[in-house]
Amino acid sequence: MTDNTRVGPAEILDALRLRWRLAALVFVAVFAGVLAYAYSLPNEYTAKVIVSLTPKPSTGVAASDVPQLGQEYVAYVTAPATIARVAGDIGVDRTTLGDGVGADVATGSVNLTIKVQLRTPRTTAVAANALADQVVSFAADDKLITAQVVSPATVPTSPSKPRRKLLGGAGGLIALILAIAVALLVERGRPRVRSSVEIATVTGHDVLGRVPLSRSVRRGIAAALDDPLVGGAIRSLRTVLDHQARVSAVRTLAVTSSVPGEGKSTVAASLAWSIAHLDARVLLIDADLRHPSLARVLGLPPKPGLVEVLRGDCTLAQAVSGAAGPDGLFVVPTSGVAETGDLLARNFSTLLTEAVGQYDVVVIDTPPLLAGDDSTTIATMCDAVLMVVTSGQQIRRLSDAARALSAVQARVLGVLLNRTDVPSYGYTYRTVSRSVDETPREEPVVAAEQPPSNVVVAPVPASVQRPQPAETAPATEVEAGAVPGMSGLDRPNE
Ligand SMILES: Nc1ncnc2c1ncn2[C@@H]1O[C@H](COP(=O)(O)OP(=O)(O)O)[C@@H](O)[C@H]1O
Ligand SMILES: [Mg+2]
Repeated sequence: MTDNTRVGPAEILDALRLRWRLAALVFVAVFAGVLAYAYSLPNEYTAKVIVSLTPKPSTGVAASDVPQLGQEYVAYVTAPATIARVAGDIGVDRTTLGDGVGADVATGSVNLTIKVQLRTPRTTAVAANALADQVVSFAADDKLITAQVVSPATVPTSPSKPRRKLLGGAGGLIALILAIAVALLVERGRPRVRSSVEIATVTGHDVLGRVPLSRSVRRGIAAALDDPLVGGAIRSLRTVLDHQARVSAVRTLAVTSSVPGEGKSTVAASLAWSIAHLDARVLLIDADLRHPSLARVLGLPPKPGLVEVLRGDCTLAQAVSGAAGPDGLFVVPTSGVAETGDLLARNFSTLLTEAVGQYDVVVIDTPPLLAGDDSTTIATMCDAVLMVVTSGQQIRRLSDAARALSAVQARVLGVLLNRTDVPSYGYTYRTVSRSVDETPREEPVVAAEQPPSNVVVAPVPASVQRPQPAETAPATEVEAGAVPGMSGLDRPNE
């Protein structure tokens, strides 16, 4: 299981990927707060004046004695009486001036530096010069030292405080750390699966394949299948399913997942599309009546569709569209309805029986398992179920979904891991051997990771190795005398 006590770069990236909205909210809130604070602070200006303290001739005082003798001058500048006098002369509050005045004689120096910090640039310079004048007058009575202004204060052009850029930078850093911390904290309570082995342990089912995260998926099913990595993964899945179907015939396959957005519709459509490329007649049914998506994804009108067939408003044949995808692909889209359970429970099984009589394979896109019992209802009516799991899914959701399927004794063929991180799963490119009747060429395949022992890697049967114009068959040898598979090309009843 995921060790949720360890925090490394992978955990931080995962937490940010999964909780990016929360992290962004925390970052913006904290950063904006710091910036608002920085800009609410009043501007302060600093003016500096330098007074040189020189030993008077024939007094025996050396320049090296000045830093020590100068301490008297430092005390004079900051004395309440001096401050009060200057404050009165220039018309500022004596406490404000007292708080803003500083003076020192650096070690080894003969210069007395007076600094004044106030909120108005001009008053700041005036106050600094007035204090310097006070020092010069004070030195007139001094037998040992002469004071002379060597660098008068000028009116500062920009504020010295607050240091808004520094505050902003520090605020950004603090906001980032807090955002990561909050994302990590939220994620700590929700351990997630990362590897095939973890998924197999949690669900009790084999991981049949991995579909990488890819932008091509958003451009439609054809684009996804054209993507070497996504298309390769779907074709590999088709091969594995075909192999599994030999153990026991699979004519109806439900594609489901624990929660919405894991890729059920994408996988159901691309798998059906991919099987149809093998000259099989495939019926793809959108049975997610609450959130249908196949009509939109495949560019079909949603009506008449599954809802109308289930209500008896039209026949199956009237709801089927052959307008999307390859020749062998037929689709029953649907519009959405609120009351779905009874509709499905009452009539879906009859519809499936009819569909199996007319098509080689029926692929059903279902609602999420944890959103109600529609999906398990459908699962009980199908020969097999494929679970789609988004990489990084919460362990609890996954185990609840697997339990829901086992409670109705659905035949789960296995899990398809979707949206995997490409590099971490070791996808690579290599040259592959092809079946005898295909032109050899370079083809990317899913390859590098050694599959765990519980992942089924099937030989490709002859039934799925026919040369296809737009398809690339998986790279394995032709299996002599292959038994019937789910592609239905060699169906037992034919
Ligand atoms: N492997 C993938 N890479 C990138 N985007 C994906 C992938 N799989 C699915 N998606 C996108 O995720 C969204 C949800 O997918 P969908 O198939 O509709 O999920 P579900 O049917 O489980 O709710 C869609 O926009 C889809 O394009
Ligand atoms: Mg869907």
